[in-house]
Amino acid sequence: MKIIKVIVTELCVASLLLVWSMEAPAVEKAADNYRTYCTQCHGLQGNGKGINVRDMSVQPRDHSDAQEMSARSDDDIFKVIKEGGVAINKSVLMPPWGDVLSDEEIHGLVAHLREMCQCSYGK
Ligand code: HEC
Repeated sequence: MKIIKVIVTELCVASLLLVWSMEAPAVEKAADNYRTYCTQCHGLQGNGKGINVRDMSVQPRDHSDAQEMSARSDDDIFKVIKEGGVAINKSVLMPPWGDVLSDEEIHGLVAHLREMCQCSYGK
Protein backbone atom coordinates (compact mmCIF):
# COMPACT_ATOMS: atom_id res chain seq x y z
CA MET A 1 0.00 0.00 0.00
CA LYS A 2 2.69 2.43 1.00
CA ILE A 3 4.50 2.03 -2.29
CA ILE A 4 1.28 2.87 -4.19
CA LYS A 5 0.85 6.04 -2.14
CA VAL A 6 4.40 7.04 -2.96
CA ILE A 7 3.86 6.39 -6.65
CA VAL A 8 0.60 8.39 -6.69
CA THR A 9 2.25 11.28 -4.88
CA GLU A 10 5.19 11.22 -7.26
CA LEU A 11 2.86 11.23 -10.25
CA CYS A 12 0.98 14.23 -8.88
CA VAL A 13 4.18 16.15 -8.32
CA ALA A 14 5.45 15.18 -11.76
CA SER A 15 2.27 16.33 -13.50
CA LEU A 16 2.24 19.60 -11.57
CA LEU A 17 5.82 20.21 -12.61
CA LEU A 18 4.93 19.39 -16.20
CA VAL A 19 2.00 21.85 -16.26
CA TRP A 20 4.17 24.48 -14.62
CA SER A 21 7.04 23.97 -17.04
CA MET A 22 4.70 24.15 -20.04
CA GLU A 23 3.15 27.41 -18.93
CA ALA A 24 6.13 29.33 -17.67
CA PRO A 25 8.10 29.49 -20.94
CA ALA A 26 5.05 30.67 -22.94
CA VAL A 27 4.62 33.64 -20.62
CA GLU A 28 8.33 34.38 -20.62
CA LYS A 29 8.45 34.03 -24.39
CA ALA A 30 5.73 36.68 -24.82
CA ALA A 31 7.54 39.10 -22.51
CA ASP A 32 10.71 38.37 -24.43
CA ASN A 33 9.06 38.95 -27.81
CA TYR A 34 7.56 42.17 -26.54
CA ARG A 35 10.97 43.41 -25.41
CA THR A 36 12.52 42.45 -28.75
CA TYR A 37 9.89 43.61 -31.21
CA CYS A 38 7.60 46.14 -29.56
CA THR A 39 9.48 48.30 -27.08
CA GLN A 40 11.22 50.57 -29.59
CA CYS A 41 7.82 52.12 -30.24
CA HIS A 42 5.60 51.09 -27.34
CA GLY A 43 8.29 51.59 -24.68
CA LEU A 44 9.99 49.28 -22.17
CA GLN A 45 7.04 49.74 -19.82
CA GLY A 46 4.54 49.45 -22.68
CA ASN A 47 3.44 53.02 -21.98
CA GLY A 48 3.83 54.20 -25.58
CA LYS A 49 7.10 56.03 -24.94
CA GLY A 50 9.63 54.09 -27.01
CA ILE A 51 12.77 55.51 -28.56
CA ASN A 52 11.05 56.07 -31.95
CA VAL A 53 8.20 58.25 -30.80
CA ARG A 54 9.77 61.68 -31.11
CA ASP A 55 9.50 61.65 -34.89
CA MET A 56 6.36 59.55 -35.32
CA SER A 57 3.32 61.32 -36.77
CA VAL A 58 0.97 58.85 -35.07
CA GLN A 59 1.93 57.92 -31.54
CA PRO A 60 2.01 54.25 -30.49
CA ARG A 61 -0.70 53.06 -28.16
CA ASP A 62 -0.04 53.17 -24.42
CA HIS A 63 -0.58 49.47 -23.65
CA SER A 64 -0.99 50.15 -19.95
CA ASP A 65 -4.04 52.34 -20.64
CA ALA A 66 -6.94 50.13 -19.53
CA GLN A 67 -9.59 52.44 -20.96
CA GLU A 68 -8.17 52.35 -24.49
CA MET A 69 -7.15 48.70 -24.42
CA SER A 70 -10.51 47.49 -23.09
CA ALA A 71 -12.16 49.08 -26.15
CA ARG A 72 -10.63 46.33 -28.34
CA SER A 73 -11.55 42.66 -28.54
CA ASP A 74 -8.80 40.03 -28.32
CA ASP A 75 -9.55 39.21 -31.99
CA ASP A 76 -8.84 42.80 -33.04
CA ILE A 77 -5.65 42.91 -31.02
CA PHE A 78 -4.55 39.63 -32.60
CA LYS A 79 -5.38 41.03 -36.03
CA VAL A 80 -3.55 44.32 -35.60
CA ILE A 81 -0.42 42.52 -34.40
CA LYS A 82 -0.51 39.95 -37.20
CA GLU A 83 -1.58 42.20 -40.09
CA GLY A 84 -0.53 45.66 -38.93
CA GLY A 85 -2.31 48.94 -38.22
CA VAL A 86 -4.13 49.15 -41.56
CA ALA A 87 -5.94 45.86 -40.82
CA ILE A 88 -8.10 47.68 -38.26
CA ASN A 89 -8.04 51.11 -39.96
CA LYS A 90 -5.14 52.39 -37.97
CA SER A 91 -1.74 53.78 -38.90
CA VAL A 92 0.75 51.95 -41.16
CA LEU A 93 3.29 52.90 -38.49
CA MET A 94 2.09 49.85 -36.59
CA PRO A 95 3.92 47.12 -38.56
CA PRO A 96 2.50 43.66 -39.43
CA TRP A 97 4.26 40.86 -37.52
CA GLY A 98 2.71 37.83 -39.23
CA ASP A 99 5.92 36.99 -41.12
CA VAL A 100 8.03 37.10 -37.98
CA LEU A 101 5.80 35.68 -35.24
CA SER A 102 3.70 32.50 -35.24
CA ASP A 103 -0.02 32.63 -34.41
CA GLU A 104 0.83 31.01 -31.08
CA GLU A 105 3.35 33.74 -30.28
CA ILE A 106 0.82 36.41 -31.26
CA HIS A 107 -1.78 34.84 -28.95
CA GLY A 108 0.90 34.98 -26.24
CA LEU A 109 1.39 38.69 -26.92
CA VAL A 110 -2.37 39.33 -26.69
CA ALA A 111 -2.34 37.69 -23.24
CA HIS A 112 0.75 39.72 -22.33
CA LEU A 113 -1.00 42.97 -23.34
CA ARG A 114 -4.04 42.01 -21.23
CA GLU A 115 -1.72 41.66 -18.27
CA MET A 116 -0.13 45.02 -18.98
CA CYS A 117 -3.45 46.87 -19.10
CA GLN A 118 -4.99 44.72 -16.34
CA CYS A 119 -8.10 44.76 -18.49
CA SER A 120 -10.27 42.69 -20.80
CA TYR A 121 -12.68 43.56 -23.62
CA GLY A 122 -15.35 45.89 -22.27
CA LYS A 123 -13.78 46.05 -18.79
C1 HEC B 1 7.51 50.99 -35.54
C2 HEC B 1 6.76 51.27 -34.36
C3 HEC B 1 5.92 50.16 -33.76
C4 HEC B 1 6.33 48.90 -33.38
C5 HEC B 1 7.73 48.32 -33.50
C6 HEC B 1 5.16 48.24 -32.83
N1 HEC B 1 4.08 49.07 -32.87
FE1 HEC B 1 2.20 48.65 -32.18
N2 HEC B 1 1.55 50.48 -32.76
C7 HEC B 1 2.35 51.48 -33.33
C8 HEC B 1 1.53 52.64 -33.59
C9 HEC B 1 2.02 53.94 -34.19
C10 HEC B 1 0.22 52.33 -33.16
C11 HEC B 1 -1.01 53.22 -33.19
C12 HEC B 1 -1.67 53.16 -34.52
C13 HEC B 1 -2.84 54.12 -34.59
O1 HEC B 1 -3.30 54.58 -33.54
O2 HEC B 1 -3.27 54.41 -35.72
C14 HEC B 1 0.28 50.96 -32.67
C15 HEC B 1 -0.83 50.27 -32.21
C16 HEC B 1 -0.79 49.02 -31.67
C17 HEC B 1 -1.94 48.30 -31.19
C18 HEC B 1 -3.38 48.78 -31.28
C19 HEC B 1 -3.86 49.37 -30.01
C20 HEC B 1 -5.20 49.99 -30.22
O3 HEC B 1 -6.17 49.32 -30.00
O4 HEC B 1 -5.26 51.13 -30.62
C21 HEC B 1 -1.50 47.12 -30.69
C22 HEC B 1 -2.32 46.01 -30.04
C23 HEC B 1 -0.07 47.07 -30.89
N3 HEC B 1 0.33 48.25 -31.49
C24 HEC B 1 0.75 46.04 -30.52
C25 HEC B 1 2.09 45.94 -30.86
C26 HEC B 1 2.90 44.78 -30.58
C27 HEC B 1 2.44 43.56 -29.81
C28 HEC B 1 4.13 45.02 -31.10
C29 HEC B 1 5.32 44.10 -31.13
C30 HEC B 1 5.13 42.78 -31.72
C31 HEC B 1 4.09 46.35 -31.71
N4 HEC B 1 2.84 46.86 -31.53
C32 HEC B 1 5.17 46.95 -32.32
C33 HEC B 1 3.69 51.37 -33.60
C34 HEC B 1 4.49 50.26 -33.42
